[in-house]
Amino acid sequence: MPPVVLRSFDPTPAHFQIKLDRPDNFIMRNRFDKRVVIVTGSSLGIGFAAAQGFAAEGAHVVLCARNEEQLKRAADSIADDGGKVSYQALDLADTDAFEKLIQDTATEHGRLDALVNNAAVTRHRMIDSMSLEAWRKNFCVTVDATFIGTKTAMAIMGKQEQGGAIVNVSSSCGSRATVGVSGYSAAKAAADSFSNCAAMEGATMGVRVNSVVPGSVATAASEAAVAGNQKVQDAIHSTIPMQRSGTPEEIAAAILFLASDEASFITGVELPVDGGKLAQLYVPTTLI
Ligand SMILES: NC(=O)c1ccc[n+]([C@@H]2O[C@H](COP(=O)([O-])OP(=O)(O)OC[C@H]3O[C@@H](n4cnc5c(N)ncnc54)[C@H](OP(=O)(O)O)[C@@H]3O)[C@@H](O)[C@H]2O)c1
Repeated sequence: MPPVVLRSFDPTPAHFQIKLDRPDNFIMRNRFDKRVVIVTGSSLGIGFAAAQGFAAEGAHVVLCARNEEQLKRAADSIADDGGKVSYQALDLADTDAFEKLIQDTATEHGRLDALVNNAAVTRHRMIDSMSLEAWRKNFCVTVDATFIGTKTAMAIMGKQEQGGAIVNVSSSCGSRATVGVSGYSAAKAAADSFSNCAAMEGATMGVRVNSVVPGSVATAASEAAVAGNQKVQDAIHSTIPMQRSGTPEEIAAAILFLASDEASFITGVELPVDGGKLAQLYVPTTLI
């Protein structure tokens, strides 16, 4: 039988040239008018794109991250675009400070409509060279802060007439394995399981809990992970059915959807936003 020839594939054909620049992506809709939303890890990347989206659709958005300078830049940029925004520098490993931020936000605004648990600690280490301390670092934000955030927000949202929505940002690493990210992956898997359990407990309280599951996304974190090595980046893209990384705005669009009333009957969902990666059986070397 003659060999099947690999069809040439342009990873950036015209149909991918859709305008993804924020915040134009989100205009003309006001799904979060008068609503109050907290997004963790919102000075950069996916969290920042989500914060921009919420603000562009009418929410007062509360940002948090560790680096105050970067956080201020993010908040100024949202305010310059006409968004309602406030911020607080904190390390989510300090769960008391995170709990206080949630409580204070609800007290100040009289409501809390959505919480996005987005920040994560990523420690790339092979198992044989990973200390217990480095292993645990993966869990302190991804799992512990998600637990405290969910617990605190659920208590507030459960008492509100309008309920609320919690969106957790997971990763395809939570259900698929690769080398060097065992701690990160185990923490994401734990957070996924917790998220689904929280959905069950929130269901009768009017609190929906869902996860967005990004695959490879072009952010500072993912660029640092490949250390500017284009060959590695190309190799990763070649394993993705859509042959490219996602943009922070594409992940943000899914976060906004799950936080919005459009998803009013959706809870306990893990929504992949990954160019088809999780649905894939194997990476083809040939195409028919
Ligand atoms: N990028 C990807 O390819 C990809 C793929 C799958 C899943 N994800 C998930 O998507 C989420 C966002 O990732 P990203 O790529 O957008 O990351 P990023 O660009 O590195 O941004 C991370 C954000 O979280 C903040 N942050 C980190 N540690 C924190 C801490 N201890 N306390 C408070 N804030 C903290 C960072 O600010 P400071 O450093 O100033 O604190 C920053 O605002 C994560 O949950 C990640 O696991 C990303």
